[in-house]
Amino acid sequence: MADRPYIVGNWKMNGTRAMLSQARSIDRAAQNLMKVEVALAPPYTLIHPVHREAEQIGVGAQDCHPGEDGPHTGDISASMVADAGAKFVILGHSERRQDHGETNTLIREKGASALEAGMRILLCVGESEETRDEGKAESFVTRQLKASLPETLDNPEESLTVAYEPIWAIGTGRTPTVEDIGAMHCAIRATLVELYGEEQGQAVRILYGGSVNADNARDLLAADEVGGALVGGASLTAESFLGIVIAAAELQDQPA
Ligand code: PGA
Repeated sequence: MADRPYIVGNWKMNGTRAMLSQARSIDRAAQNLMKVEVALAPPYTLIHPVHREAEQIGVGAQDCHPGEDGPHTGDISASMVADAGAKFVILGHSERRQDHGETNTLIREKGASALEAGMRILLCVGESEETRDEGKAESFVTRQLKASLPETLDNPEESLTVAYEPIWAIGTGRTPTVEDIGAMHCAIRATLVELYGEEQGQAVRILYGGSVNADNARDLLAADEVGGALVGGASLTAESFLGIVIAAAELQDQPA
């Protein structure tokens, strides 16, 4: 696994230029927290402005169209977000699967397009509460992962991050137990090793996402195979987001 924890803020449909000061504060603080890799995925309209502010943090997009430039009113291609400064794209988020009916096949195509444009992909997977209650969470998530990954992926260590985000934990203040997170991350790890071999499969970072905040970050980040966090609500202010980044840095200082 890549050695530095990776903390990514997903601003979702939040943010006007007034929020650039938050990005700036996050970036400046990240310069003193080099043990942690920090990134933000602002809405499309702020990708370039955040990219211009960022000296340390990575900048990503929250989505892209699967195709090349063309007659698709209102859509944005992978090469356009890359041109704006995005180095990665979040794909397969459950809000896009739900709000826009995105299928695994579409996500797979978007992933191929993002890689083609020279970006990394941050692929989200996660089960519903019903699926978890039925005891099928791990089989559902590993199947979803396999079906959403692009067909060819050279160098997964560099080009792929996976985020496990149980749908019922997103924005709800509820989280799975540390044991359940560890078990799911181990199942995802086994799938990555099966797909990409021992060395590459072990090197892909697997983030946990869903109601991560400064208070619970330390416990959640310490779970088995958790290589960082994908953070929604708590990434909207520098203060709350940096609390999570600091927790990740402190964990790095602890003897294993
Ligand atoms: P949340 O969102 O941190 O607000 O639960 C996480 C996400 O959807 O990425």
